[in-house]
Amino acid sequence: MRPSTFEASSVPLSTNKHLLRWVEKMAELTRPAAIHWVDGSEEEYQALCSEMVARGTFTRLNQDLWPGCFLARSDPSDVARVEDRTFICSLSKDNAGPTNNWVDPFEMRRKLKSLFRGCMRGRTMYVLPFSMGPIESPFSRIGVELTDSPYVVVNMRIMARIGLRVFQEIDKDIKRVVPCMHSVGVPLGPGARDVPWPCNSEKYIVHFPETREIWSYGSGYGGNALLGKKCFALRIASNIARDEGWMAEHMLILGVENPQGEKTYVAAAFPSACGKTNFAMMIPPAGFEGWKIWTVGDDIAWIRADETGHLRAINPEAGFFGVAPGTSPKTNPNAIATLSRNTIFTNVALTPEGGVWWEGLTDTPPAECEDWQGQRWTPEIGKETGRKAAHPNARFTAPASQCPCIDPKWDDPEGVPISAFIFGGRRARTIPLVFQAFNWSAGVYVGATMGSETTAAATGAVGKVRRDPMAMLPFCGYHMGDYFRHWLKMQRGLSATPKIFHVNWFRKDEDGNFLWPGFSQNMRVLKWIVDRVHSRAAGKETPIGWVPRYEDICWDGLTYSREQFEAVEEFSRTAWRSEVIGHEELFIELHDHLPPEMVYERELLICRL
Ligand code: GTP
Ligand code: SPV
Ligand code: MN
Repeated sequence: MRPSTFEASSVPLSTNKHLLRWVEKMAELTRPAAIHWVDGSEEEYQALCSEMVARGTFTRLNQDLWPGCFLARSDPSDVARVEDRTFICSLSKDNAGPTNNWVDPFEMRRKLKSLFRGCMRGRTMYVLPFSMGPIESPFSRIGVELTDSPYVVVNMRIMARIGLRVFQEIDKDIKRVVPCMHSVGVPLGPGARDVPWPCNSEKYIVHFPETREIWSYGSGYGGNALLGKKCFALRIASNIARDEGWMAEHMLILGVENPQGEKTYVAAAFPSACGKTNFAMMIPPAGFEGWKIWTVGDDIAWIRADETGHLRAINPEAGFFGVAPGTSPKTNPNAIATLSRNTIFTNVALTPEGGVWWEGLTDTPPAECEDWQGQRWTPEIGKETGRKAAHPNARFTAPASQCPCIDPKWDDPEGVPISAFIFGGRRARTIPLVFQAFNWSAGVYVGATMGSETTAAATGAVGKVRRDPMAMLPFCGYHMGDYFRHWLKMQRGLSATPKIFHVNWFRKDEDGNFLWPGFSQNMRVLKWIVDRVHSRAAGKETPIGWVPRYEDICWDGLTYSREQFEAVEEFSRTAWRSEVIGHEELFIELHDHLPPEMVYERELLICRL
């Protein structure tokens, strides 16, 4: 029988003295009503979910349609990462660089102390141990999140390896543990009534790179609160990786298997909401019979050279926190299969049958539903008011193991070998569908100068082109110039250098229509990339790199004319001259840390233009 209410178990599940002392100290600071040591069991998960249903945070979906699934509705003010409230508090401002918000760590600690003082009153503090990467992997890292949000605990159970087995690892005392403090910032006075989604209008997402610490206050949503993800696996890990000679990247990892059974793994960096999950789970289109895409990860890659000088990557996560809108049986059937059970939906619409819906899931919207804020929504209301049924950054949290195309090696402790890197942005103009950089340093330049239109994944204006180097602008935990240097340095330890490509699925015509069908059709581009890796495809040299000619792409199963291809692949000298000025703007900002290679690459590009 499922317990209907959750009872905190205050018995420590670890014997590690540092951990015990830290938990005690933090409890003294935050004053929770109870402490619960998270064992990670199914029973605990179910009890927490039931408790959240009772409190109105969760809605249990119709279990016949959506077994094991829940809907969460966040506060309308807490729907995405808050980049302007995200801080890298290194000892020196110079180390954070101009692309990060910096506050003096001493001052920030004082501020955090005052914010966290008593902030968990009336709530339970969960002691949540997690491993990023398979527990037994030499790549993996451990953190402990102290949080007052049960929503965080259940989501983290899907997104990372958590619980007893991680405490056992901590008790061995052989790996450094990253302390992660999290509070929604809403203490409860005696007898006070809680709201379904507590959060504070004052938000702080803070990283101390030198001491490898994370403090997050005021938000319960996504990357702000699931601290293993962007805070640890990218911002803190990028610092660890630089010190130790590996890479922590905002990249999907996939394997391409051809009809002969040859498998090639690539990693691709696209900014938030620019197609990583879709690309990672792609089903090859008609004309590609016998081809198969295998998913290793959809958001983060930890990459290092093995003893033979080949790059190998792991996905440090265990689940997908994917964008719901636009995900459908047509665009991404593998994601739909993955999220069909044991999934937590956040900020999608609720149908009268107790199912979920979001824009793009079906061609015809339900006649009536409750929108992401719980208000009545019909297609007519939507048309009149412009209100969406689901929030544009609505997400599903689903276990990676449920993905039909999950790679057999997705949780291999040794990772998978990487043969190519792909960078890609969301660009209506200028950037061709695909091109290949001339070599590693030219490729690093391509990644470093990448631009993309902003999306709903972060609060702020949507649709503005901004430079987003390697899709890491919001996630690099140190100076971006030093990060480029680290990329350049990585090549020196390699016996085989991965090829570097740039793609743009989002080019538009004058009327605003996409020039490229995208989604499964991206397989055609990926095949050219894989063939280039194995030196079996031709291309044409242009000032920006190698591009495929019409005849270099396999068109089996698709009618796409030479003229259409020329439009999507078009390279314009005039447009690229203004593009380089955009590169220059970023470089001026980074100039005192910019590696000389970047300056030379820019000069070479200008000469060729
Ligand atoms: P994060 O989880 O925020 O890091 O996002 P992501 O990079 O995984 O993006 P995702 O795959 O979820 O795609 C985000 C949006 O891009 C969705 O609305 C998709 O429908 C859309 N999208 C993905 N691939 C394509 C494509 O090939 N063409 C077009 N036009 N849209 C695409
Ligand atoms: C992103 O914004 O790149 C995400 C979602 O993957 S979040 O976990 O909120 O960072
Ligand atoms: Mn992401």
